Amino acid sequence: VALRSAADVAEAIRAMVVRGAPAIGLSAAWGMVVAARHGEDLAAADFLLRQSRPTAVNLAHALDALQSCWGNPDALLLAAETLAREVERAEVVMAAHGASLLRGRVLTHCNTGPLATGGYGTALGVIVEAHRRGRLQQVWVGETRPYLQGARLTAWELAQAKVPATVITDSTAATLMAQGRVDAVIVGADRMAANGDFANKIGTYGLAVLARHHGLPCYVALPTSTIDLLTPDGAAIPIEERDPEEVRCLGPCRVLPDSVPALHLAFDVTPAALVTAIVTERGVLRPPFGEALRRIAG
Ligand code: MRU
Repeated sequence: VALRSAADVAEAIRAMVVRGAPAIGLSAAWGMVVAARHGEDLAAADFLLRQSRPTAVNLAHALDALQSCWGNPDALLLAAETLAREVERAEVVMAAHGASLLRGRVLTHCNTGPLATGGYGTALGVIVEAHRRGRLQQVWVGETRPYLQGARLTAWELAQAKVPATVITDSTAATLMAQGRVDAVIVGADRMAANGDFANKIGTYGLAVLARHHGLPCYVALPTSTIDLLTPDGAAIPIEERDPEEVRCLGPCRVLPDSVPALHLAFDVTPAALVTAIVTERGVLRPPFGEALRRIAG
């Protein structure tokens, strides 16, 4: 996809041509580089990119990191390149920290692999590393309605990495847990508040509740750039509501009667109390999370 202006990049983020919190942040950074090259007003470009999607805080953090370079296109390019390297490096380190937490059969949601990130993955990076160390038997992948990031992207990435994976409908998770066929849940995040509550793809909260009910660990893997200490708790995280038309359709097929409304909340908030551990590039955090989050992201 060729993107030639900040507006092109902002539209690609809004329309989910590129998605996943770290990849959104990096795309916005490259959007600023493109804008500088084409002589655009950088304050306007920054504003446009910042508005493109509301929930993933990596977007604002990437744009903040570039602001001091606005006066110098070469410095802006260098800053974007450095950010891209740092994001990928953080993911590799995070995977090494998290891999020993997993064993047996893990369940994940949405897409947190190379296609969504700086190139290695957040939760999926941890999964791939655990498999490389011989710790995993099986990955259950929730298909992730309505965009099907699990079915379309995670399934493909796990096949590329030669990790045994099975796609399930989102509503199958409870039964698999009741049957004793899941050992842990691991997901990514789009924004973690200062108290450890976090927003992730809609359906994550339900999985965390189910994990608690069945006595299973629930892990969240995220780079420190996904932590937002200015947001005190989950209730203050902006949750994106997308076009209901996206719920009406399954691929090219319209599946709802036209007369019935649909609601499309793109994310939900999982309370920190349901999280067993947070995996970051700066180590694994155990509850209570507040002080540890301030230490690593402050
Ligand atoms: O709406 P999306 O596809 O951008 O949502 C992505 C997710 O919710 C991911 O789980 C999140 O960004 C975690 S890290 C890639």
